[in-house]
Amino acid sequence: MERRDFILTGSATLASLLALPHSRAFSQAAKEKVSPGHSSGHLPLLFGTDYYPDQTPESLWEQDAAAMAAAGITNVRIAEFAWGLMEPREGGFDFKWLERVVGILHAQQISVILGTPSAAPPPWLTQKYPEVLMVNEHGVTLSPGTRRFTCPTNAIYRRLSLAIATEMARAFNSTPGVIGWQIDNELTLGESGRCYCRFCREGFQRWLRDRYPSLDAINQAWGTVFWSNTYTDFSQIPVPLPSGAPPNPGFALDYDRYQSFANVSFLEEQLAMLRKLCPTHFVTTNNVGLVDTIDMRDLYRNLDFASADNYPGFFAILLSGADSGASGPPDAIATTSAFGHDIMRCVKDGEPFLIMEEQTGKAGQPFFSPQPEPGQLRLWSYQAVAHGAMGINYFRWDTADFGAEEYWHGLLKHDRSHSVGFDEIQQTIGELKSLGHDALNARYEADLALCYDPTSSWALTIQPGQPKIKYLSELLPWYGSMGASHAGVDIVNATPELSRYKVLCAPVMYIVSQEQAERIRGFVENGGTFIAGFRLGVKDEHSRIVDTPLPGLLRDVMGVELFDYQPIYSEKQSVQFSGPLAGPNAECRIWADILSPQKAEVFASYTGGAYAGKAAITSHSYGKGRAIYIGAHLESKDLARVLLTLMAMSGVSRPIQAPPGVEITTRRADRQAWTYVLNHTAKSQSVTIAGTYRDLLSKSTVSGPMSIEPYGVRVLVQA
Ligand code: GAL
Ligand code: ZN
Repeated sequence: MERRDFILTGSATLASLLALPHSRAFSQAAKEKVSPGHSSGHLPLLFGTDYYPDQTPESLWEQDAAAMAAAGITNVRIAEFAWGLMEPREGGFDFKWLERVVGILHAQQISVILGTPSAAPPPWLTQKYPEVLMVNEHGVTLSPGTRRFTCPTNAIYRRLSLAIATEMARAFNSTPGVIGWQIDNELTLGESGRCYCRFCREGFQRWLRDRYPSLDAINQAWGTVFWSNTYTDFSQIPVPLPSGAPPNPGFALDYDRYQSFANVSFLEEQLAMLRKLCPTHFVTTNNVGLVDTIDMRDLYRNLDFASADNYPGFFAILLSGADSGASGPPDAIATTSAFGHDIMRCVKDGEPFLIMEEQTGKAGQPFFSPQPEPGQLRLWSYQAVAHGAMGINYFRWDTADFGAEEYWHGLLKHDRSHSVGFDEIQQTIGELKSLGHDALNARYEADLALCYDPTSSWALTIQPGQPKIKYLSELLPWYGSMGASHAGVDIVNATPELSRYKVLCAPVMYIVSQEQAERIRGFVENGGTFIAGFRLGVKDEHSRIVDTPLPGLLRDVMGVELFDYQPIYSEKQSVQFSGPLAGPNAECRIWADILSPQKAEVFASYTGGAYAGKAAITSHSYGKGRAIYIGAHLESKDLARVLLTLMAMSGVSRPIQAPPGVEITTRRADRQAWTYVLNHTAKSQSVTIAGTYRDLLSKSTVSGPMSIEPYGVRVLVQA
């Protein structure tokens, strides 16, 4: 499988520490070792490129650095895959070449983010220590020769990763020009996201000892009496490798949590060292927002800011044929990218994030995305900024003419002449810099929140109920509909304070913890609108089915009980709307929660089969707010109509009229707001926003309906 297929098929099993308190050892380690570092408020502007001097003849470094400076590039990220050059044999370190290139870049005022190289260990390492190799979910040991093939638990691998990172830190902690670190690269975004080796098995057993008061408590939590799985010694506990039948869901969910923990603690070992040796540098790591093998909130908790990799064109390949909830490409691509950005902004509770890699041309192997249309590269950069990015690094400076990514196109072509998109990116860098620090560090405004909880994602992946149900694919159409309101969407896990939002949506919130239930209850009591999708509150944090009528902890808030739940295969089912949702009937494929209103009103009913006439959508006034249960799986166009109607009823409205494919977001600082208008379509569009504005890009004053060119952007401030 192409490694990114992961992101949307969500085929790998998944993990978290989120819904439960952290393991004692982990939080203790985090407290001791990791002191806060930089805040993004003090960072220089970062409009850089990902540079590979390790793959480039030294004779070209000077001219590369000069050309970068001429293009307005402020910084590079380098060395994240150069372990073999920095440690050609165990314990034999060579940073001379890296010092030379850092010096050359610094002479051009280009600062450097150094990558620690643990994503790609060299052959001497795996030859001498083959036990570091990852074992995938089928029990197959991965082969070296690429990257991301190592075990996050293995002590030898951790020691060697920490050793090279430590030597780097010693060599560069006071080198002029070096400003920060990226630890590793896209943790878990390999062909296999999780390891199932014997070291992980022992690590899992240790983690369980730390997390549960006793072995008996584990047996109770998982219900191991089923099929005679009661453990009488920790060492008996296996990992969820193929067996004679599907695994115990509680056990499998805890394993996903363990794998997330193992990766986070792998990163935190390097982080603790960097805090000690490089106290003036920032530290981050890069990932793709839609990867949910790791709980990203845990991953980024002690890092200075989140960094995201952004390849919108890639979604053109992945989404062909998928139901994304948007009106179709290019809207679907824009929606998926926006979702990724919002996730990355929200893992640090709204702090600005850095794009560590941004697409610059055709991307991918063995298939490549189309060449972005003129204007799209600029648009994608603005989209990232519109969703909370503070800076952008373009991937990559040149295009490799060897190696697995030789078709991943950079700012220079294979012959090192300027790529098709070069001038557009140079222009974009200049424009974005001129927006200035305050705009680039302003807060994103959101009236809406979407619940995205890795625990539910992992549990639902273990047990989808209907093969077509995939957590992220269920969330995307909700996200797309919410985004269409232009009211801004934060991605939350429903545990932090929710009172700042008008609407909280929670599709397939399969697991609801006590804490989440209390937060949601308080949110609705105080006037919020909670809109849940089917499969709400089916399970507790141990992945045990609740022993009350569904939706479990939230049934008084929702004012309904489930009469039944039904996977749908070839049967015909549809939904007839009533009351404020009155409109054409909609098909219900895939899933139906059959609702029995206790105190709720009925907004839609099923029309087919034994449950014809039973409630499909209900609404319940609770406290000062309202709780709506959408029990039917709806196609995205019907879902959009329903959600937009419900949001309008909840007072979500911004004085904006924009056609599909035009995105509008706002970022706000103390005294100023910046409104971004982004046309993701190939046609000129017209948008109406109440008020008179100054467009910082065209330097004109606009009011009333304004036109926006194909793939065009406006950045508006109050005139
Ligand atoms: C990123 C990754 C880079 C490079 C790039 C293009 O996701 O971090 O190392 O692989 O994709 O494939
Ligand atoms: Zn392992």
